[in-house]
Amino acid sequence: MIELKHIYKTYGADRHSLRDLSFQIKQGEFVFLVGPSGAGKTTLFKLISAYEPMSSGDILVSGHNLKTLRPGQVPFFRRKIGFVFQNYKLLKNKTVFENVELPLVILDEDADVRKEKVHALLARIGLSDYADQYPDFLSGGEQQRVAIARALVHEPELIIADEPTGNLDPVLSDSIMKLFFEFSKTGTTFLVATHDHRLLQPGRGRVLSLERGALVEDRWL
Ligand SMILES: Nc1ncnc2c1ncn2[C@@H]1O[C@H](COP(=O)(O)OP(=O)(O)OP(=O)(O)O)[C@@H](O)[C@H]1O
Ligand SMILES: [Mg+2]
Repeated sequence: MIELKHIYKTYGADRHSLRDLSFQIKQGEFVFLVGPSGAGKTTLFKLISAYEPMSSGDILVSGHNLKTLRPGQVPFFRRKIGFVFQNYKLLKNKTVFENVELPLVILDEDADVRKEKVHALLARIGLSDYADQYPDFLSGGEQQRVAIARALVHEPELIIADEPTGNLDPVLSDSIMKLFFEFSKTGTTFLVATHDHRLLQPGRGRVLSLERGALVEDRWL
């Protein structure tokens, strides 16, 4: 599903944000990405989702070599991925319903199907009453759950989630993880960056640890 070969990413002149990263992730794996602030987690996500180019090395995602992906192919490539951004990136001038619906609109789904899927997911994350609200009127944790619903609604092959439970209390955080694991059982691949070591429970998947841009650990929980 994902393969990295000797990936380097350098922003400035001298310091590597990512250093010689090589690993493979199979379809359906649940992978946590951990490491201190500044270790390179978000940078890695930007590379895997073709938001930024690598400085050297190769990345293959779902059969695409990102180096040879033409600009015109990028939007189609991204439809295979559901993103939960570290800062949510909800559209302020759209309601909760419209934010979650967006990936389905892009995929040209029927209005009836969109309505059914969005409402079902909003119910799952406990935000049915907020469908017609605008993001600015929601708490941080509520906005985070909307961002999670938007990432899942079109049932993508790969979910990339950057600190998805960062603003959630332990109960909500557990319910989101449960939702993720249910999706994972259907073959969805998950890549989840987290600082919350409570999430790393036995049997829950694989952990990749980054430190100063390098992979320092790769283990199964
Ligand atoms: N656009 C950029 N320009 C220059 N340096 C950058 C840029 N983006 C990230 N970096 C640097 O790359 C390094 C890795 O940053 P990154 O955001 O990937 O860390 P992170 O592991 O996601 O941290 P956090 O846990 O705080 O989110 C940092 O030292 C950061 O300063
Ligand atoms: Mg980050």
